Amino acid sequence: MAITAPRGTQDVAPSDSYKWQFVERTVLETAALFGFREIRTPTFEQIELFQRGVGNTTDVVQKEMFEVKGQKGKDIFALKPEGTAGVVRAALENGFLNDALPLKVCYVTPCFRHERPQAGRLREFHQFGCEAFGSKSPYADVELISLVDHILKLFGVKNISLNINSIGCKTCRAEYHAALQAYFAQYKDQLCDTCLERLDKNPMRILDCKSPTCGEIAENAPVVTDYLCDECKAHFTAVKRGLTKLGIAYVVNPKIVRGLDYYTKTVFEFVSSEIGAQGTVVGGGRYDGLVEELGGKPAPALGFAMGIERFLLLFDAQGIELPKPSVCDLYIGSIGIPAGEKAMEIADKLRTEGFSVQFDIMDRSVKAQMKYANKLGAKMSMILGDNELVTGKAQIKDMATGEQKEIDFENELVNVLYDAALAAEADALAGQLGEDAFKRIMQLGNEKTE
Ligand code: HAM
Repeated sequence: MAITAPRGTQDVAPSDSYKWQFVERTVLETAALFGFREIRTPTFEQIELFQRGVGNTTDVVQKEMFEVKGQKGKDIFALKPEGTAGVVRAALENGFLNDALPLKVCYVTPCFRHERPQAGRLREFHQFGCEAFGSKSPYADVELISLVDHILKLFGVKNISLNINSIGCKTCRAEYHAALQAYFAQYKDQLCDTCLERLDKNPMRILDCKSPTCGEIAENAPVVTDYLCDECKAHFTAVKRGLTKLGIAYVVNPKIVRGLDYYTKTVFEFVSSEIGAQGTVVGGGRYDGLVEELGGKPAPALGFAMGIERFLLLFDAQGIELPKPSVCDLYIGSIGIPAGEKAMEIADKLRTEGFSVQFDIMDRSVKAQMKYANKLGAKMSMILGDNELVTGKAQIKDMATGEQKEIDFENELVNVLYDAALAAEADALAGQLGEDAFKRIMQLGNEKTE
């Protein structure tokens, strides 16, 4: 029987990988504009990191973690369910927090959660995330949210709403916990078993339980914003003011508590209603206690992660097309062994000039070679045979228009391909900018060269 992919995982087809490459490149480049540099951490970590970091009473740790046993069975690891805990571990272990602060890092990483798969919910998914350490300023919260806003605008994403909330600090949390415990205690006979356990240990987690009954009960639970201490209130007010200053629209949603234990103060989510039930594309917030929890000196921190699969679903829903790179600038067809060798030699030379070139490695007839060139979407094609090798001349064909012209293929090919690439780039730029802006840029270019 054929072996299939594990449930909840996805293959990225070669015809689609350009989208991933484009998104990953663009988000990392945008993060760099805000001072975030890429960090890479292992795909698996000691399980205790997530138990302590993400929290023992969270769904992610209690129900969704993929455990990995070491060889002799004594070490227990887990595939990372999220990116933050590993980054904090790495920052502490490598002393990154002893360097100039703030430390700003970003990553693209696979994550693993054993959830029930559905559209936008996978068991292996990918996050682009950013984490900043050292700043307790509300400007840092605003800057982080504005980074997401930049990315969404850059891709032309519409109709996505930013929900923010403050879930307070250790000080105000104690009073809120007591209020939640008193509220949920009334429904002890209806809560699920996990939530009954959470009632004593961490009643906030009941707020994001996925069981419908617990969800219904949670609807009328006390809201955290009513319990914020003065410092947390002032912080939240400053964050909201900052967002308004940058023209970033938001909705205060006191129901957002996030599913991971490390959050303090500001939490936020970017949510779309166009990609089904799993509409949260980006989630994040402050986690001022996590560094200390994992053994470091206390350091304020904050971050977010965007689910790349959900981001791509949003593109499909909104008809956002990403630029498709050329797979083949030139296809060189050939008849006979000497012409085949020449095609190979020319392809090799042109690739060093940066052009994507293909030639026949399938021993096909010329007709079949051209059919393949068409399928590939080759921009140009040229056929070499004995005659062309003698004269040094061949017909080069523009595959889109069908236009042909004779060229000296040893000496003129590079220029022909450069001209075609320049023309294509100008077309793409004009398409992106609109005609007026394009004309203006061309005019500026001409003024400069005059
Ligand atoms: P999270 O909200 O658990 O936060 O996940 C962030 C994003 O990852 C979600 O908004 C969603 O787009 C995507 N995601 C989560 N689970 C799945 C899944 N099963 N399938 C597909 N996509 C999924 C975190 O992970 C935090 N570490 C974010 C953060 C960074 N907070 C501070 N720094």
